[in-house]
Amino acid sequence: MTNELIFPSTFLWGAATAAYQIEGGATEGGRTPSIWDTFSHTPGLTKQGHTGDVACDHYHRFRDDIKLMAEMGLKSYRFSLSWTRIQPGGVGPVNPEGVDFYQRLVDDLLEHDIEPWVTLYHWDLPQPLQDAGGWPLRDTAERFADYAVLAHHALGDRVRYWTTLNEPWCSAFLGYGSGAHAPGLSDPEAAVQAGHHLMLGHGLAVRAIKEARPDHDLGITLNLYAVSPQRDTAADADAARRIDGLANRFFLDPILLGEYPPDVVEDLSQVTDFKHVRDGDMEIISTPLSVLGINYYSRHVVAAPIEGVEPEPYWRAPSNWPGSEHVRFVTRGVPVTDMNWEIDAPGLVEVLERVHREYPKLPLYITENGAAFVDEVVDGEVDDIDRVAYFDAHLRACHTAISSGVPLRGYFAWSLMDNFEWAWGYTKRFGMIHIDYDSQLRTPKSSARWYADVIRRNGLAAQ
Ligand code: FCB
Repeated sequence: MTNELIFPSTFLWGAATAAYQIEGGATEGGRTPSIWDTFSHTPGLTKQGHTGDVACDHYHRFRDDIKLMAEMGLKSYRFSLSWTRIQPGGVGPVNPEGVDFYQRLVDDLLEHDIEPWVTLYHWDLPQPLQDAGGWPLRDTAERFADYAVLAHHALGDRVRYWTTLNEPWCSAFLGYGSGAHAPGLSDPEAAVQAGHHLMLGHGLAVRAIKEARPDHDLGITLNLYAVSPQRDTAADADAARRIDGLANRFFLDPILLGEYPPDVVEDLSQVTDFKHVRDGDMEIISTPLSVLGINYYSRHVVAAPIEGVEPEPYWRAPSNWPGSEHVRFVTRGVPVTDMNWEIDAPGLVEVLERVHREYPKLPLYITENGAAFVDEVVDGEVDDIDRVAYFDAHLRACHTAISSGVPLRGYFAWSLMDNFEWAWGYTKRFGMIHIDYDSQLRTPKSSARWYADVIRRNGLAAQ
């Protein structure tokens, strides 16, 4: 038996998506290729060669999708802008057709009383900017800030919540470290440089947008992990310190405290001398924010290497973890999602309390949380009880954090609908709405009805 849990009356209930994962219309309306178009069209890089060319065809069906959001009672919708729809090629003026698409989307959301929450960059760098060097190049930060200003100018009269970057860890360390994500490169130093320039672009964008509209809510979304050592040994504790350093503190410390953590700089000393950091960068990067977005999915349990034992294939070099390639990621045998990610709701409480304790006090939002499971359509219905259980457990964790004083202001389920799960293509389903990719039929799953009920009662029912 669990108790009924009621959330604060202003709690923002939402769902999230990202442009390349849902829009399709890849060559329409003046849009030009991003690194994800190039990556997904390169044979062998995505599951079954899937691409985002059509995805959920949201570009043409956004009005239907907004109707479904309204039926669920969503208070907010977090989506990202396709940079190359707004600014083809990543330079020059805006593309009126691209701006028009997003203005229509935003207007329709507002007509349905759904607060639009814009992410400026969810991983789709314009291909010409990658050809020029991509995020390891300092100039890309400036290009991003220019684009951010254009996009904010085009939509800032009707959108007040702005996120600069989604999960810069993935852009830097999956994009340039292991190469599992676009642009698919494996160069440890470039990954660290990319991380820095992503944060610099974020800071420049925040400064410019703040100047134009100091009243807007501005933040960044970080994917934070609970990290723990497998055993109570000094060697495992060091493994946990290293992975916490790269996954969490590499971004939290510069953005919120204005400095790189010295132990992480030391861990990376074989990889880079940090000469790419220039005077004044850290002030720009740590420009104060009004909100922090956190994406939470799972916990990393790590250990020191055992001689003669190979690390698990997913984590093998080329690595996501420059300078700490030796760390072992271990599984505990607890239930996992279809991504093989361990389900760990207490980790979410840990992350929220830690951020609140160790960093300047900011309003926090869970900007993504959710789970992939193998869904079956039976008689036109999808009864995704595992996903409901996942959401329920994590919302209980949110409530625990709020009760302990964490200023958590909202929660965005990932995802509104099934979509293109990056290198996994369409083989992983995270949605509360099922998508039949042949017919584009939308079918709300049990989780969509369950979430609608949560929103209606502003909390969780007793069980
Ligand atoms: C996050 C991404 C999001 C989605 C989920 C499952 O890392 O931000 O686009 O892929 O994972």
